[in-house]
Amino acid sequence: MRVRVFSGVQPSGNLHIGNYLGALKNWVAIQRDYESIFCIVDLHAITVYQDPAELKRKIRETAGLFLACGIDPAHSSVIVQSQVTGHAELAWMLTCVTPLGWLERMTQFKAKSQAQETIGDGILQYPVLMAADILLYQAGIVPVGDDQAQHLELTRDIAQRFNSLYGETFVVPATKLPLVGARVMGLDEPDKKMSKSATGANHAVGMLDPIDVARKKIMRATTDSQPAIVWDTLAPGVENLISIYRAFGEVDEATARQEFEGLRYGDLKKKVADMVVESLKPIQQRYAEITADPAYLDGILQSSYERIAPIAQSTVELTKTRMGLYTR
Ligand code: TYM
Repeated sequence: MRVRVFSGVQPSGNLHIGNYLGALKNWVAIQRDYESIFCIVDLHAITVYQDPAELKRKIRETAGLFLACGIDPAHSSVIVQSQVTGHAELAWMLTCVTPLGWLERMTQFKAKSQAQETIGDGILQYPVLMAADILLYQAGIVPVGDDQAQHLELTRDIAQRFNSLYGETFVVPATKLPLVGARVMGLDEPDKKMSKSATGANHAVGMLDPIDVARKKIMRATTDSQPAIVWDTLAPGVENLISIYRAFGEVDEATARQEFEGLRYGDLKKKVADMVVESLKPIQQRYAEITADPAYLDGILQSSYERIAPIAQSTVELTKTRMGLYTR
């Protein structure tokens, strides 16, 4: 059996260059080496309230962006989580083997639950659903950004626990992080991860930001009060800009050092802005072409669904059989 790759993005907020560099760019690079499944995880998005009309729109936008970024539907499946009922079914079965303490220890859960007065049970269960996404397809490799690494460890723990309780059932997946760009920081707050839900106007460059807006955001990025780059003492904001440049251009560290050592911050930002906008332009162009024909996207979602549905169903059946649940 070919090793499977699985990964997902929430259709909440605007997809940004952190999502691209941490995840999508890597998906595109490895998709042909594996059997690849990329998912729009709408059931994860509703763990916080989403406006229904907006969510519906975002699901299609995210699918369109997967393709525009280079996911090739001839090789890879692009699916919507809520269309495949196995995700939610398996999530319940896995919930029942997951100790509560494991979920309460998750740093994302702690951060989210501290930020709100009351939190939905979905926020706690979130990583179990994520484990179900991955285990449903017996995926061996999961390419993600650094912020998902802890959830992947939990996925492995859940898979191993299930396997030891009920017998060998799930492939235990490996995490694949990009070498550069695994954690892109906010442009306005370089001590915080770039995030879809942050509100600062200059926080993130969206994949669909108009080119002049993207450029302006980078030119306004927070650096420090030094005039120019001293490679051995980079401020977090400067380091972030250099990582963004390196990740987009696939530039190694020695080359970046030669290019940037001693450069004034204004020139650094201009170089980074040029690199980012030149990378975004062809993606935005393809996005416009893809969305001009809604039937094209529908066709890909449907054929992907048909390709993966038997895999999902067989894992659900196997899990039910292992647990002694009713099967025909
Ligand atoms: P989400 O939607 O927050 O992010 C999608 C992907 O983008 C990566 N990412 C980043 N990478 C670098 N720098 C950043 N600032 C940055 N922000 C986000 C994320 O690591 C992720 O790879 N729980 C997941 C979605 C999910 C999933 C899965 C992923 C659900 N089921 C199964 C993999 C496998 C999430 O919220 O990603």
